Amino acid sequence: MTPTREHWTSKLGFVSAAAGSAVGLGNIWRFPYVTGENGGAAFLLIYLAIVFSIGLSVLIAELIIGRSAQLNPAGAFKKLAGGAWPAVGYMGVITAFLILSFYCVIAGWTLAYMVKSVTGSVLLNDAAQGGATFSAFISNPVEPVVYTAIFIALSILVVLGGVANGIERASRYLMPALFVILLVLLARSITLEGAYAGLVFFLQPDFSKVTWGTLLAALGQAFFSLSLGMGTMITYGSYLQRRQSIGGSAVAVATLDTLVAVLAGLVILPAVFAFGAAPSAGPGLTFITLPSVFAQMPVGAFFAVLFFFLLAIAALTSVVSLLEVVIAYFIDETGGSRTKVAALVGALVFLIAVPSSLSLGVWSEYTIAGKGFFDALDFLTNNITMPLGGLLVALFAGWVLRREALLELAEGSSMNRTVIGAWYVIIRFLAPVAIAVILVSGLV
Ligand code: PHE
Repeated sequence: MTPTREHWTSKLGFVSAAAGSAVGLGNIWRFPYVTGENGGAAFLLIYLAIVFSIGLSVLIAELIIGRSAQLNPAGAFKKLAGGAWPAVGYMGVITAFLILSFYCVIAGWTLAYMVKSVTGSVLLNDAAQGGATFSAFISNPVEPVVYTAIFIALSILVVLGGVANGIERASRYLMPALFVILLVLLARSITLEGAYAGLVFFLQPDFSKVTWGTLLAALGQAFFSLSLGMGTMITYGSYLQRRQSIGGSAVAVATLDTLVAVLAGLVILPAVFAFGAAPSAGPGLTFITLPSVFAQMPVGAFFAVLFFFLLAIAALTSVVSLLEVVIAYFIDETGGSRTKVAALVGALVFLIAVPSSLSLGVWSEYTIAGKGFFDALDFLTNNITMPLGGLLVALFAGWVLRREALLELAEGSSMNRTVIGAWYVIIRFLAPVAIAVILVSGLV
């Protein structure tokens, strides 16, 4: 046990760090496309409703659990309830580790593409050629692994600084930088000729596309984007002092996260449509379509470097928060020094990221349940362990902590009683039921 736990130095510091965790690859490469595909503004409305009801409520529940226990997720459940509950914490620690193994690989690609945009080697006019270049890069057994190692090393440097001097300080510089870059890119994108078609794709409400599946897509996106269901927000909550309030900060984090996602959509889709390209999901959009768009844009190399720098920043503060879950666990449970634990965790994450990267190339014939290592981990975490973790957090806060959770939420806060009451109803009834539905339908 650590004798003195480090804490965030201010509300702004905590909000920056938590928003840094939430804002990541999920906002920039996934959200814009998913919105366009699922009915534009119709999806956006549903997403907003879910983020500010279920998402925000689970976020608050995780912060309550962390702040009251002042421990990592496994330690927190052990201290607050015991029984089988610590299993939820262990699942979180393991999930963090598994997400890291593929998230760091993609993060490494963003660094690589930043460098390659400077030299121009990835800025090819022809998207087909861009696709071939991308495939050749990610299936190379050495190069992406090197970039992944660099990315992990950078993230470890941040966590080595500790909670206040490392994570909080880095987030306080990086988050504003991220906003400035987004606004510069936004100005460029929406003034391109033909940008309007992208705005239409992104925002035109099409309620005919709204199905049961749309709701599930929105819920899954909300969970991943807000970093819920795997202990990150419990860990960050454990660095809050009791007098640091939870409600207002949680609203700020959810709002910033959503704002970045929407801005990312307003940057990416108009640019894609202005150059007559078709939007595709995730890696294809980010690493193939967009580079070809940049190649056709005046001073495109400049905007390309800026864009990949933006992605790298977003990924860095998210990776840091994932690392911190595992690191907090080992520091709390073994009493080891941050330096030693961080070095060890960094090495372990690298070891598991290597097969993740190689599964896209030389090891692609090894599969787990018909999926490559990379896809299998992505599927397992996104579709199983995160929703399950969120469901259990809601049940824990609403049915085990019950009144204690309400008192915790009121502690140090000026929230009015109606809002606190609404939270309680959502966390007890709406959130568990809705998440259970996602989980089951996701598996069936
Ligand atoms: N929220 C991050 C994103 O949108 C991903 C993440 C998930 C980070 C879970 C931490 C924990 O990219």
